[in-house]
Amino acid sequence: MATEKTLNDLFLDTLKDIYYAEKQILKALPKMARAAQSEEGKAGFLQHRDETQAQIERLEQVFEMIGKPARGKTCEAIQGIIAEADEIIEEFKGSVALDAGLISSAQAVEHYEIARYGTLIAWAKQLGHKDAIPLLQATLAEEVATDKKLTQIAESSANAKGKRAA
Ligand SMILES: [Fe+2]
Ligand SMILES: [Fe+2]
Repeated sequence: MATEKTLNDLFLDTLKDIYYAEKQILKALPKMARAAQSEEGKAGFLQHRDETQAQIERLEQVFEMIGKPARGKTCEAIQGIIAEADEIIEEFKGSVALDAGLISSAQAVEHYEIARYGTLIAWAKQLGHKDAIPLLQATLAEEVATDKKLTQIAESSANAKGKRAA
């Protein structure tokens, strides 16, 4: 019964949500790397793909710590963000604005992840899942660093390039 649910259930549901999301992101990043025009963009997406693989493994450790099987739960939010990225790849293919668009999609992904990990860390603290906290914090730090790097690529080159006609 819904009224019997607690923060524990929310924690597990949200863990499943981000586990599903990370797996979708793992599949999307090589596609974004292939689409990116700049070498810096390509390298950035591929590096974050490797980080994402390690993040998935950290989540599996967290599932193990709380004694639950590692299972994803369909996350429509990430599906929507990735669908928008696909749309940009399709609609801006060959245009000078493609990389600026790809970066904007990637930043939407990072902000979703930052929101999720921030919440999971707060709830892990509340629930006394002490061993999970450093794992979740390590991933959050990578997501924040990725977001900053994307801003830097956008501001140093992709946005200006996007203004010019091909
Ligand atoms: Fe991630
Ligand atoms: Fe990320």
